[in-house]
Amino acid sequence: MLDHQSLRHAFGNYATGIAVIGARGDDGMLVGMTVNSFTSVSLDPPLVLYCPSRTLRAVETYASARFFSASILGAGQKRLSDLFARQGESKWESIGHRIGDTGVPLIPEALASFECENHAVHEAGDHLLVVGHVRAVHLRESADPLIFFRSRYRALTQSEHGGDLETSQAVHLGWGL
Ligand SMILES: Cc1cc2nc3c(=O)[nH]c(=O)nc-3n(C[C@H](O)[C@H](O)[C@H](O)COP(=O)(O)O)c2cc1C
Repeated sequence: MLDHQSLRHAFGNYATGIAVIGARGDDGMLVGMTVNSFTSVSLDPPLVLYCPSRTLRAVETYASARFFSASILGAGQKRLSDLFARQGESKWESIGHRIGDTGVPLIPEALASFECENHAVHEAGDHLLVVGHVRAVHLRESADPLIFFRSRYRALTQSEHGGDLETSQAVHLGWGL
């Protein structure tokens, strides 16, 4: 049986972006957290997912809120990632956020923000899998992404903004979403 530390270390070899999830509780309170478990799932219908830990104080809100947002952070937004990874309330209130048409909070300068309707919630060990149906997309795309790899924030070595990054193989194959 692999111990948690070894597993965490091995999983960390999968480089991801960083997203901030936002949702509103029944009482109107906004909750938010940094995740690297955000993933696109399906184009038709348009589905995404993220995985909240069962130990989160607001796990019930994440599981039951009708809508949630996912804002993809840019390279210059490490401070926001740190803020939303901290334990505590009122994270949204401490930054200049905006509210989308579905009532969820959004990070205005994010590379892209998705407003999603709760589509399904699955149990998955010590986490839940929350699947969302994308109802609205807000694109900015004027910066490089914030990357998380081996427990550290990283940047692209060759900037897409100012550098001549080669078109990725994924786009050639038609996998670029
Ligand atoms: C890079 C990074 C990725 C994270 N990814 C997740 C995740 O996918 N799921 C999760 O439940 N927590 C994740 N966390 C931890 C949560 O952000 C953190 O537990 C949460 O913000 C605590 O806030 P709370 O006090 O409002 O519950 C991540 C933290 C960091 C720094």
